[in-house]
Amino acid sequence: MKITVIGSGYVGLVTGACLSEHGNDVLCLDLDPRKIEMLQRGEIPIYEPGLEEIVQRNAAAGRLRFTTDIAESVAHGTVQFIAVGTPPDEDGSADLQYVLAAARNIARHMTDYKVVVDKSTVPVGTADKVRDAIDDSLRERGVALPFSVVSNPEFLKEGAAVEDFMKPDRIVVGADDERAIHIMRSIYQPFQRNHDRTLVMDVRSAELTKYAANAMLATRISFMNELANLAEVLGADIELVRRGIGSDPRIGYSFLYPGVGYGGSCFPKDVKALCRSAQENGMDLRVLTAVEEANDAQKLRLVQKVVARFGEQLAGKRFALWGLAFKPRTDDMREAPSLVIIDELLKRGATVCAFDPVAAKEARRILGERIDYATSPMGALDGADALLVVTEWKEFQAPDFERVKALLKQPVIIDGRNLFDPQTVKAYGFDYDAIGRR
Ligand SMILES: NC(=O)c1ccc[n+]([C@@H]2O[C@H](COP(=O)([O-])OP(=O)(O)OC[C@H]3O[C@@H](n4cnc5c(N)ncnc54)[C@H](O)[C@@H]3O)[C@@H](O)[C@H]2O)c1
Repeated sequence: MKITVIGSGYVGLVTGACLSEHGNDVLCLDLDPRKIEMLQRGEIPIYEPGLEEIVQRNAAAGRLRFTTDIAESVAHGTVQFIAVGTPPDEDGSADLQYVLAAARNIARHMTDYKVVVDKSTVPVGTADKVRDAIDDSLRERGVALPFSVVSNPEFLKEGAAVEDFMKPDRIVVGADDERAIHIMRSIYQPFQRNHDRTLVMDVRSAELTKYAANAMLATRISFMNELANLAEVLGADIELVRRGIGSDPRIGYSFLYPGVGYGGSCFPKDVKALCRSAQENGMDLRVLTAVEEANDAQKLRLVQKVVARFGEQLAGKRFALWGLAFKPRTDDMREAPSLVIIDELLKRGATVCAFDPVAAKEARRILGERIDYATSPMGALDGADALLVVTEWKEFQAPDFERVKALLKQPVIIDGRNLFDPQTVKAYGFDYDAIGRR
């Protein structure tokens, strides 16, 4: 099938690459010429495990191409996936300008039937806006052409995006016309040969499903973060509590890890946008409002622990940070807790040396030279007053503690991801503090 993907970021590029892997003829559009030039050279602008091989293999086979030419991209695919960003607007609502611009571009150039698929995360009612935008543009052109609008939210996780796309838990298709549903089913059929995992529903329910999923996951995180803070006060160990509740099949073990708060390009903005949608409809989502407040507070938890040890003023103190990305296996720094932590430490006069296996380049783009960047975990420790663990990269899990101790000025570890066993670390002579651990 001929498919166009509009927006070649984390979602668009993975979508395009994985669809081409199953034999489709895919053209990816982006308005950022630098990104497209890189992709045309076979370079991947983002870090995503397994993506490079798929992109290079399918580009070499001629099934995956990249362009900045809107007319060419519209002419190419009967199916046009919109996978552009939907960042938060000033009032917290999802900014739909990129989605609607993409829709209008399709309408300005189309000459035959198109299935326009919203893959971006968009508020309920967006498919109607997309339909109106296309209708208006077609009317301006004085033409009447058939098209369908489908909601097909994406559930991939950065760091495991290729795997998630190739083996989806579910494929949500929100559509109300049979022609589009049939086309969507045939696109996704190769991804679910074992058993059908497509959930066809009305468009509004599909749009809400994506927000509901992210809101639920964010809720679990904030719930555990607050409980961890309480465990510290009460002298309980959150790790034991986590196991105690996770073993209940109604609860399950996933997403029960306390830490320094959720970040990334999705949870923060999606929680905000859902709250905003509710407000616009005269409702308050009280649980979710609290989830967001708890998360903002949690991003400061590590700094509170630093202040409790070293005092409010941190001039002359140096901190080693392990991890900058908002989670492991990605270089995405959007809304990363590390940014809040670094900001607070610098404000108090401290200096920071950070190491991240893949996100240093992206961090440097955002933070410039406000902090130092190490090229190894141990390199960050030299002369630091404490090690702060911010992202749970696997390679941080079993360090040479003797060396860590020798490099640090003081044997202090403040672990924002509960990476280490408190007994083990203490046996090495560290002053160890974590989130909700005894
Ligand atoms: N990143 C994730 O893990 C993830 C997961 C599920 C859903 N989503 C959702 O998918 C959407 C895209 O997210 P992302 O992380 O891939 O964003 P991104 O910022 O990485 O990529 C968006 C791309 O769209 C391009 N673009 C913007 N307007 C365009 C236009 N009119 N035509 C062509 N290209 C255009 C931008 O240049 C950019 O390269 C968002 O709505 C997001 O919420 C993201």
